[in-house]
Amino acid sequence: MENIKTYILQNKERFIAELIELLKIPSVSADPAFNQDVIDAAEAIKISLEKAGCDSVEICETDGYPIVYGEKMIDPKLPTVLVYGHYDVQPADPIELWTSPPFEPEIKTTEIHPEGAIFARGACDDKGQMYMHVKAFEYMVQNDCLPCNVKFMIEGEEEVGSVNLKTFVENNTKKLQNDVILISDTGMISNQQPSITTGLRGLSYVEVAVTGPNRDLHSGLYGGAVANPINILSKMIASLHDENNHITIPGFYDKVEDLPIDERIEMAKAPFDIEDYKKALNLKAVYGEEGYTTNERNSIRPTLDVNGIWGGYTGQGAKTVIPSQAFAKISMRLVPNQDWEEITALFAKHFKNIAPEGVTVTVTPHHGGQGYVTPINSIGYQAANKAYTETFGIPAIPVRSGGSIPIVALFEKELKSKTILMGFGLDSDAIHSPNEHFGIFNYLKGIETIPLFYKYFVELSK
Ligand code: BES
Ligand code: MN
Ligand code: MN
Repeated sequence: MENIKTYILQNKERFIAELIELLKIPSVSADPAFNQDVIDAAEAIKISLEKAGCDSVEICETDGYPIVYGEKMIDPKLPTVLVYGHYDVQPADPIELWTSPPFEPEIKTTEIHPEGAIFARGACDDKGQMYMHVKAFEYMVQNDCLPCNVKFMIEGEEEVGSVNLKTFVENNTKKLQNDVILISDTGMISNQQPSITTGLRGLSYVEVAVTGPNRDLHSGLYGGAVANPINILSKMIASLHDENNHITIPGFYDKVEDLPIDERIEMAKAPFDIEDYKKALNLKAVYGEEGYTTNERNSIRPTLDVNGIWGGYTGQGAKTVIPSQAFAKISMRLVPNQDWEEITALFAKHFKNIAPEGVTVTVTPHHGGQGYVTPINSIGYQAANKAYTETFGIPAIPVRSGGSIPIVALFEKELKSKTILMGFGLDSDAIHSPNEHFGIFNYLKGIETIPLFYKYFVELSK
């Protein structure tokens, strides 16, 4: 059997070239203008799974974008790993801030990636990380060392809330039966210090509209006499945090469990330098909820953020106007036990309550999902940790992430299995931002580490 390191050495140019081809497809799920491209990306994934050695691959149609499902079942008595990933990407805007076009991948070096990184939308989130699994699988098939059954489920709507995947999972629990779910769609601490994500935050995403007068008004003739929806919306949003940056929505924290102090001490041991953090973001100071560290604020605490706000005149020059309406998109990151639908309802009730009489407020929920935490004593976690220890030379650290993959909580509920989040991205890889990239080191290290996960998972399952 050829060793994985040798296989990577011999095939790395091809591995990179194949990923680059995939990254050229602008599979932006949020924007209908890219409809055909998203469908093309699904087709490309299907072909790559077939080539890598799946026995059967289907494109499963949904009410939205298709789910690509492939499998290789070698023995029903052996464990089954279900790999999940997504082929859709975030919009590339603002395009003018990219140093090379988002869908014309280029390899460039950075301080953190001296051996080069692929710059493209989706490079890290999640095409690059998903494709590591396809190549690791190819290796195991080619070299006759696949130790168990594998199922792939790659969706095209993760970045817009996985609404149709939810139905697909609910209707196909038998087909999707597995012993562990494996996902690479998160990050790790650094290229010297691997980590395994043990928690994800939940999410509630809403859009609000504040309506005042029935038309835009002259701000001289009417200013001061009627409620200005933008003034009101700003005031309402500002009141959602108190002076300690706690969220003021009644009931918001009711189900939040404070992490035991020993776990907080354990968390604080992960390598982190606040000065480097500030420097990387060009900030003089960090900001957030009183009583918690930066790493706690962005992982174990719930938050509320405005993602966009608009209304009135924003064109060239000045226009004196009181707008009829103002809008905002607001997201709340939630922690385990907070129910996203309950939080959405609490938000809507409170937001309408605090509106003065001169305006009407509507709250439209977008999407959401529950948070997730996973124990570190499971076979899956142990197998992942053994795999990292072997390829990085040091054990992985468990880390709770601030991001969300809402479908993970549903997997546990419907499929009754644990998810292992083996992320290979770095925070500096700029996912969802201009100049997203994925280190060549990370890509190849992922391909090297994944087969070891399979090996140890099967060994530990015996
Ligand atoms: N891969 C990310 C989530 C992520 C990134 C988790 C890094 C942990 C570390 C995923 O594609 C994503 O962007 N999720 C969205 C939620 C979704 C419902 C749009 C998010 O977290 O904003
Ligand atoms: Mn992702
Ligand atoms: Mn994403």
